[in-house]
Amino acid sequence: YVAEIDASDTEKGTYPHFMLKEIDEQPFVIRKIIQEYQDKNDTIKLDKDIRKAMKKSDRIYIIAAGTSYHAGLVGKQFIEQLANIPVEVHIASEFSYNMPLLSENPLFIFISQSGETADSRSVLVQTKALGHPALTLTNVPGSTLSREADYTLHLHAGPEIAVASTKAYTAQIAVLAILAVDSARAKGIDLSFDPLQELGIVSSAMETLTDQKEEFERIAKEMFETSRNAFYIGRGMDYFVVQEAALKLKEISYIQAEGFAGGELKHGTIALIEDGTPVIAISTQGNVNFSIRGNVQEVAARGANTCVVSMKGLENDSDQFVLPQVHELLTPLVSVVPMQLLSYYAALHRECDVDKPRNLAKSVTVE
Ligand code: G6P
Repeated sequence: YVAEIDASDTEKGTYPHFMLKEIDEQPFVIRKIIQEYQDKNDTIKLDKDIRKAMKKSDRIYIIAAGTSYHAGLVGKQFIEQLANIPVEVHIASEFSYNMPLLSENPLFIFISQSGETADSRSVLVQTKALGHPALTLTNVPGSTLSREADYTLHLHAGPEIAVASTKAYTAQIAVLAILAVDSARAKGIDLSFDPLQELGIVSSAMETLTDQKEEFERIAKEMFETSRNAFYIGRGMDYFVVQEAALKLKEISYIQAEGFAGGELKHGTIALIEDGTPVIAISTQGNVNFSIRGNVQEVAARGANTCVVSMKGLENDSDQFVLPQVHELLTPLVSVVPMQLLSYYAALHRECDVDKPRNLAKSVTVE
């Protein structure tokens, strides 16, 4: 089954909220992306001008806001590790007035679900004036950022209605993985990593997660029922996901939450841990599995109410949830799903307006 975009995408159907519907759509969105970015020979189908622009650039500047910025952090790892091109990821509103020194042949990648974020557009206007090429990754072809950039990659996630972004984030990461591999191949780098095949495995893994909603509802109740704050910790790839996890919780449940690098806790934040403070850890990376578990013990010893979500192969008996195994580079696509669901149920039990949280807009067209 491949998600097709039709009128029903802008209706909730049997779902109580768009957010839950959009979380559930993620396996289909990933399949849709595989289909859209695959040519007849099962290789990657991508605009050859984008390929050339990637190959030509000596440094990539990813510009984005909010959840899209968090997808950019993951994208940096893909592009650096696979295609061997240095990448900087910037918050759009900071870059606008605090531009770093640019390399000789920069390529700007704008990541934006809506394609309308004013902060990102302001950077595009500035960098275009400097004559630098731009590629936009967006869910809305024909949007401002798509029209004004030289190139566009479509996310194919279908309309995202809930203010809190879910399927656009995973679509952005999937498309970034494909882009990174395509660029690596264009540079003659021999990779064993086949993103289309690995994304197929991710899609099935996501489905097993969305099938276990009661489990996440139970964990959300245990962790967040009475808490006013929460901490998420991770290292490496997991650090990027915990930042998105914390944003998701803040946005819709209004619980004060932060995502921290596991090793950084002891340099300050651990002072905030009290009896019962919720700390959620993600562990999907072999090289840091041991150290993140050390961090969990540190906070548990100070009374934290801990929850570990690990990947199969790295799990301990005491872990609250074990994720199905996917390629180590693509773990954010699966580890984020429980995080989205935890936030959803936390907000639901607090009777918050899940789809339209206070003070937030789906697309922010003012700087
Ligand atoms: C708003 C939304 C966020 C979103 C951010 C960037 O603040 O509330 O959910 O991540 O804008 O939006 P974009 O459309 O550029 O990805």
